[in-house]
Amino acid sequence: MSLAPADFDYVRTLVRDEAAIVVEPGKSYLVESRLAPVARRHGLQTIDRLVQQLRRGSPRLRDEVVEAMTTNETSFFRDVHPFTSLEERVIPELMQRRAARRQLVFWSAACSSGQEPYSVAMLLREKFPQLASWNVRIVASDISAEMLGRAAAGRFSQLEVNRGLPARYLAKYFQREGAEWQISDEIRRMVEFRAVNLIQPWPRMPPVDVLLLRNVLIYFDHGTKREILARCRQTLQPDGFLFLGAPETTLNVDPAFDRVQHGQTICYQLKSATGTGQGCTK
Ligand SMILES: C[S@@+](CC[C@H](N)C(=O)[O-])C[C@H]1O[C@@H](n2cnc3c(N)ncnc32)[C@H](O)[C@@H]1O
Repeated sequence: MSLAPADFDYVRTLVRDEAAIVVEPGKSYLVESRLAPVARRHGLQTIDRLVQQLRRGSPRLRDEVVEAMTTNETSFFRDVHPFTSLEERVIPELMQRRAARRQLVFWSAACSSGQEPYSVAMLLREKFPQLASWNVRIVASDISAEMLGRAAAGRFSQLEVNRGLPARYLAKYFQREGAEWQISDEIRRMVEFRAVNLIQPWPRMPPVDVLLLRNVLIYFDHGTKREILARCRQTLQPDGFLFLGAPETTLNVDPAFDRVQHGQTICYQLKSATGTGQGCTK
């Protein structure tokens, strides 16, 4: 039985208010397919029943529904080129500029099940061993408690390690445990996980050198994107780097950022840092 329009609107509004995620009109099938497992978990026969419970106001159920409506697609070294840019341009440049303070802060701000921040951690260990004596922080956050739990555990399925992870890194940084792969403590301990809902107040952060805000703005409307990018400006070091997902851009959203082309990827820096008003190309 399909979801009543009033129930669909109720869920859309809830998800919009709690996470800023926009569910387009007509995507009732999406709500039904995402919420069916939640209804089953709670022993409810139909989604209508689930929405009835929601309307009665259980905060835990609200969180579960919001989490079920998030898209958690991710992979190790997703899209490759941003990590090439980090390796070849961004980190060497930052290491020169921060040579006196010897401190670097990375923030993966919608980290899902952890592949993104762990990719950064492995890249640092593998390509920049000299950073071992620096104060390097990799903060990883997400709205989803379930995803954060999985990320912090550092356990991945065969399918997940088959996606994007070089075989050499699998052999070096993971150990097989039954049907899964456990990331090494050395890498796991490099990442600090915390819950952050990007539309609520952000925690106090040290100024961030590299902000990975990838494949999450895409779910928000224009106004929310603008607000979040304004907060990125405050959080980033004046010469820091912002990475968005391939389908995302600051263009027509926040004119304070310049697009900076590094090989086959685009990242963003504040105009005050590029000094050009137009971005530079390699
Ligand atoms: C598609 S994943 C992107 C993961 C990773 N950044 C990547 O590019 O592979 C989007 C993530 O954004 C999170 N998310 C959605 N809305 C959010 C919000 N309001 N605040 C924080 N995280 C949110 C979801 O839980 C999900 O894990």
